Amino acid sequence: MKVLLTGGAGYIGSHTAVELLNKNIDIVIVDDFSNSNEKALDAIRKITGKDFKFYQINYLDREKLEKVFEENKLDAVINFAGFKSVRESTEKPLDYYYNNVSGVIVLLQTMQKFNVKKFVFSSSATVYGDPEIVPLTEDAKTEAINPYGSTKLQIERILKDLYDSDNSWDICILRYFNPVGAHESGLIGEEPQGIPNNLMPYIVRVASRRIRGIISIWK
Ligand SMILES: NC(=O)c1ccc[n+]([C@@H]2O[C@H](COP(=O)([O-])OP(=O)(O)OC[C@H]3O[C@@H](n4cnc5c(N)ncnc54)[C@H](O)[C@@H]3O)[C@@H](O)[C@H]2O)c1
Repeated sequence: MKVLLTGGAGYIGSHTAVELLNKNIDIVIVDDFSNSNEKALDAIRKITGKDFKFYQINYLDREKLEKVFEENKLDAVINFAGFKSVRESTEKPLDYYYNNVSGVIVLLQTMQKFNVKKFVFSSSATVYGDPEIVPLTEDAKTEAINPYGSTKLQIERILKDLYDSDNSWDICILRYFNPVGAHESGLIGEEPQGIPNNLMPYIVRVASRRIRGIISIWK
């Protein structure tokens, strides 16, 4: 079995890559390094002792993405690629809709073209908006209260429409809350470019004196 991980050099993607390789599942990684770097790929190889193909491309680039499908006999795709900052999404909504929603549409169209119909999508607990009842259950009401959450909710709706139109697709949606922690080797973890948008890496950078304060991430 061969699985494409888009955004596989990122935080959750790199840990998933390790788990899949440890289970002897072949992987291919696509990432544009907009929020990661090559170090994660070296670390995945070092932890697992296994190699894999990597393409440094933006998954919105249809031609290059098609080449990945041409060169690899893929069985499934797990999508981690996307922008993930709630705050930034309110400042740059168009960038978020373009990267997150258009990117997944290009990816799904490419999968359809190459008859690869197993898809795992990284959604977010943000789709629950401000919940009326906690703890949340899976079927709780969904509502987008910021552009980032709206991109995730829109993709979930696209996936439902796609499945309704052709139920030979196998689609799984994961609504992560706040994953924290790092691989026990210490070689991979959450290592965003620039100022972190998630709480844990921000706290760690302040604690290790790599950045100074915590006020500026919340306006
Ligand atoms: N970490 C969290 O707290 C959290 C919570 C809920 C949902 N999610 C979702 O899970 C997914 C993975 O999150 P993460 O924390 O690993 O994020 P991350 O930023 O560490 O990883 C995403 C990866 O995708 C890449 N990428 C972004 N746009 C791309 C594009 N157009 N083409 C190719 N590569 C691209 C980035 O370079 C990065 O390596 C994201 O979609 C995010 O929205 C994360």
